[in-house]
Amino acid sequence: MSSTYQANDGPAYERFIGRWTRRLGDAVAEAAPPGGDGAILDVACGTGSMTAALAAISSGRRIVGIDVASAYLDHARTRTDTGAAEFIEMDAQQLLFEDDAFAAAYATIALNFMSEPIAAAREMNRVVQPGGLVAVAGWDFRGGLVYQRMLWDTAAAIEPGAAKVRARIFSHPLAKPDGLGDLWQEAGIVDVTRRSLTIRMDFQNFDDYWLPLLGGQGPVGGYVAALDEATQVRVRDAVREAYLSGDADGPRSLTATAWLVTGRAT
Ligand SMILES: C[S@@+](CC[C@H](N)C(=O)[O-])C[C@H]1O[C@@H](n2cnc3c(N)ncnc32)[C@H](O)[C@@H]1O
Repeated sequence: MSSTYQANDGPAYERFIGRWTRRLGDAVAEAAPPGGDGAILDVACGTGSMTAALAAISSGRRIVGIDVASAYLDHARTRTDTGAAEFIEMDAQQLLFEDDAFAAAYATIALNFMSEPIAAAREMNRVVQPGGLVAVAGWDFRGGLVYQRMLWDTAAAIEPGAAKVRARIFSHPLAKPDGLGDLWQEAGIVDVTRRSLTIRMDFQNFDDYWLPLLGGQGPVGGYVAALDEATQVRVRDAVREAYLSGDADGPRSLTATAWLVTGRAT
């Protein structure tokens, strides 16, 4: 398996996290615009969040999104905000493109879900023209992703399975501050810089926070779906207390910070 990400329902992904990675895509595109005028690659595009952000700032350029999840690609093809972008089923670790085929490449919230991230990084370096932008973004799970902190820290106090999943996600080498930059350098990418970007996840109420977690997508969806009913109710009620934090149910705006690492292809 080249992907560890549970990805079988595009609309469920959109409700769960796609609505927020679309915001992150805009922040990435603004902080690291593609430059040049050639084609742009969105690696592990999922349902097309980053692709849409790129389409919004790059009219007339060829944009290609690739992913291994056919359900997500099907959803991406229904979007109306990705212009003429093409969506192709392909493994990021073995790209079926010629050397130097793209002017720039992006991968958002994806490399930590691959079995061999270094292979994907090397492939991105290979298919981008020398000097072209190679950009990667990944959540700062430990320090910056409030909605998951609330879930895992609360659930871990109730049942030990949550602590295991938290450890797997939060201690992944690419979730650590130097992880993505080190990977870029190992892949031969130069002029590597790191910064952090913060978006806000604006939930209407607790249901708007919780119900999308039941859609079965990614490690969060896999964890919640695997709980027996009684444990799921206990976890939900405890997470609800954390969400409410002493106030009436209603909107909450939670910050979500990602590392953005950029470099130049060689
Ligand atoms: C959290 S989603 C991010 C999707 C999108 N980039 C976004 O920002 O919304 C992670 C994506 O990585 C994809 N993925 C994981 N391993 C992959 C691989 N080896 N090749 C291509 N896509 C992969 C998954 O299918 C999933 O769509």
